[in-house]
Amino acid sequence: MTYERSTKGLITVAQNRAVNKLTLEEASTELARLADVLARANIDYHQKDAPFLSDSDYDALRIRNHEIEVRFPQMKRGDSPSEKIGAPLSEGFAKIVHAVPMLSLANAFNKADVSDFDERIRRYLGLKQDLSLSYTVEPKIDGLSLSLRYEQGRLVHAATRGDGQVGENVTENAKTIGNIPHVIANAPEILEVRGEVYIGHSDFADLNERQSIEGSKVFANPRNAAAGALRQIDVRVTAERPLQFFAYAWGELSEPLGNTQTEAVARLAAFGFQINSLTETCQTIESLLAHYNNIEAQRASLGYDIDGVVYKVNDLGYQRRLGFRSTTPRWAVAHKFPAELAWTYLEAIDIQVGRTGALSPVARLKPVTVGGVVVSNATLHNEDYILGRDSNGSAIRDGKDIRISDWVQIYRAGDVIPKIADVDLSKRKVEAEAFVFPSSCPECGSIATREEGDAVWRCVGGFICPAQGVERIKHFVSRKAFDIDGLGTKQIEMFFYDDALAVKEPADIFTLAKRDTQNLTSLKNRDGWGERSAANLFAAIEERRNIGFGRLLFALGIRHVGEAAANLIATHYTKWDEFVLAIDEAFTSKGAEWGTLLAIEGVGEVMATSLVSAFANPLERGAIDRLVAQLEIQDAEAPKTEGSPLVGKTVVFTGSLKKMSRAEAKARAENLGAKVAGSISTKTDLVVAGIGAGSKAKKAQDLGIAIIDEDDWFQMIEAL
Ligand code: IVH
Repeated sequence: MTYERSTKGLITVAQNRAVNKLTLEEASTELARLADVLARANIDYHQKDAPFLSDSDYDALRIRNHEIEVRFPQMKRGDSPSEKIGAPLSEGFAKIVHAVPMLSLANAFNKADVSDFDERIRRYLGLKQDLSLSYTVEPKIDGLSLSLRYEQGRLVHAATRGDGQVGENVTENAKTIGNIPHVIANAPEILEVRGEVYIGHSDFADLNERQSIEGSKVFANPRNAAAGALRQIDVRVTAERPLQFFAYAWGELSEPLGNTQTEAVARLAAFGFQINSLTETCQTIESLLAHYNNIEAQRASLGYDIDGVVYKVNDLGYQRRLGFRSTTPRWAVAHKFPAELAWTYLEAIDIQVGRTGALSPVARLKPVTVGGVVVSNATLHNEDYILGRDSNGSAIRDGKDIRISDWVQIYRAGDVIPKIADVDLSKRKVEAEAFVFPSSCPECGSIATREEGDAVWRCVGGFICPAQGVERIKHFVSRKAFDIDGLGTKQIEMFFYDDALAVKEPADIFTLAKRDTQNLTSLKNRDGWGERSAANLFAAIEERRNIGFGRLLFALGIRHVGEAAANLIATHYTKWDEFVLAIDEAFTSKGAEWGTLLAIEGVGEVMATSLVSAFANPLERGAIDRLVAQLEIQDAEAPKTEGSPLVGKTVVFTGSLKKMSRAEAKARAENLGAKVAGSISTKTDLVVAGIGAGSKAKKAQDLGIAIIDEDDWFQMIEAL
């Protein structure tokens, strides 16, 4: 082993090397060192001796270990620290026994149920009808519950509800949630905070858009997305998902948090947790119901899913006396919103072909009104979903499959795509056969394949599949890509299939004006078109001939290469031609250029492989080259190291940002020469605190680190 002298004393040479500079031998030395340091850090941390690593140093070492393993997969150790987050997915997560069981709530559906609830409580406590009894009224968040255990103010573990007695250990995952504090000042010695993990509507829409662009799984609703994100073995995946946490309850406590529910929740807020601002206290059934109506009226505009309202007895002394039934507390009830459900007839199952060849089944329904909206299509997700199984093979809808001619129950929540909640087997026709998922593409006839571990069937037709061609062009002209006005779905489909216009690939868009003849097939002579609209379209196309490198790369619609990644790649190479040379070299030799590509922040093996294979595929490359011949490509701006006050600074984002996603904020900061870290340490230079920023902002304040809000941040980057 080679050593060198540093301010830290004698250290190994490997320890000081950037991951992309490590030799094989150094990687092996470094992985051994990291396994040792992280194992010792884990023991120290969990046994609560003074930990010798700060949270951020610990995180940095874990990330370094992961990056080395990605670059040298063959060197991954049997005792790799990256496997220590939890057990592998098949065996699930490690288990945690809840110190106080995590219960569920009894339901009320109408006014009578609510009066019964109040009456039962008064009877139990021996309170007269005229004695006032105070309740809290708050939204019931539709996410998944999480219990956070703090000992001496440090987050020691986080667990899902599980069966109420035993949950899954998701500590590392929970630590990536921006508004969950890792350390709390002046906390009781033992403090278990409980609440709901959820994803907001706009974050959910962004996430699904990203997933679909990258050819990954699209989530049915925010709750599923949140549950999937929290229960990830690779915590880096959790960290990329926009999870948030509302605190509303507690488990074991070494001392009470207050005398009332209101006081206790205010205490949680003071510890740095996000609490729900719609919570009110009410004294009469009428006012409970009035606030229920008030919350229901705001449901669509809250920005997150709720499925009802929870009433809780405010006095904690009363709560203690009332206690629990086997699985629910006597002192609380969930008043659920009426479900947005309706039964209808399933006329057909169509298969849609996506840009990357994914075959998506869609239910064609006899139109029905659900929650005030007429629904005639519902998503069927994939083969397993139709068969009544989820991605882990567990039963959904009690294992009932979906068949053409079935009576199905349609479910709508918020602005989420309608789906099928149930099937009425008593109405199933004897001749109805189980749906057989097509093994060939309905559009081009190519075979379809479903790879192991993937829920999706894909058409292998690629460039010969017209449906994929149309979808590729739709993506190409979309807002975040070439953003061409006047080219919508209808026009693209018509242009694609029309022999004279023949827009079969992106390059054809830019030759359209030149190819447009002056006879009857001319665009201006088509139905719905005229001299003016045709000229406008040609002008809109002309305007986009000059395009940025990042946009162009994203517009190509290469699987796994989303907008943020395309921009990061572009800023790394800056010039298109140099990028193409590098990609070709990376494909042929898998040498230095392959390593360089992988060393780009946010580029992993899967994306890199997809990228280089796309450029190496002769059909795809032909289309790219023909397109590029039509364009003037602007260089991407290299990170603005000059004049940027962020050069070399470590920035931490906390809380939720309203104007851009975390991924985008991170990319922008990195572009300006900053390093973006996940947690606050003495090395942090600047904290950008979004909405609901909690303990991190507080910690930054304690350390005297500059804190700015999202608006200040915008002003700062816009000026650059
Ligand atoms: S109080 C002892 N308050 O609803 C019970 N639960 O259906 C403590 N939930 O498991 C729960 N919002 O995951 C409570 N404001 C809220 C809630 C809430 C959502 C969830 C929670 C619970 C489930 C019961």
